[in-house]
Amino acid sequence: MKNNLSPSILSADFGKLNEEIRKIEKHSDSLHLDIMDGHFVPNISYGSPIVKDIKTKLPMDCHLMITDPLKYAKDFAPYVNRIFFHAELFDRRRLRSTINGIKKLGVECGLALNPDKSIDIIRPVLKDIDAVLIMSVYAGFGGQKFMPEVLGKIHVLRAIGFRKDILIDGGINKETIFEAASAGANVFIAGSAIFSARDSVKAIKELRDAL
Ligand code: DX5
Ligand code: ZN
Repeated sequence: MKNNLSPSILSADFGKLNEEIRKIEKHSDSLHLDIMDGHFVPNISYGSPIVKDIKTKLPMDCHLMITDPLKYAKDFAPYVNRIFFHAELFDRRRLRSTINGIKKLGVECGLALNPDKSIDIIRPVLKDIDAVLIMSVYAGFGGQKFMPEVLGKIHVLRAIGFRKDILIDGGINKETIFEAASAGANVFIAGSAIFSARDSVKAIKELRDAL
């Protein structure tokens, strides 16, 4: 499976966002957009007006850290390729209806799980989704420390035959990326390791070298 690098713009300079993106564009495989509502997570990030103005040819993943993903997914769907929401929000029935509702918007749908949430929550719907996002920090902030204990979930997902994208999100840097890849993750989201570095392109190259 191809390893993909997906910079998270959360740590970018929003005063010159498109310039920051243009710099890393040809070195990246996709862009990761973190949408926070100050309710599901104790932080507010940015919304669809910012996403609408992003200029890039890269595919975009939208990571909704919000309590009502279906209500707001339609605002992001015209601009992004995949929408992820947190599986731990809902019981099985609402999980299914939310997945179906998001797919009806014409985008792929993935499920995210915080570090303390079991993959048992997503097992019944694995066939219905396009990707899984494993959080290796608690959702809400960039720049936190990688939690290697979540990697067991990726091992299990691959062992039970899940062959679609598994994204790892949080604390990915040149020290942690290799163990995430060894566990079976193939999409590596990195925010501060790229955008807090002095040279974002060099930082991406270092991440690829570490893989
Ligand atoms: C955290 C977000 C992450 C974040 C990663 O809630 O989901 O995507 O941007 O940032 P770093 O790479 O700094 O941990
Ligand atoms: Zn994210």
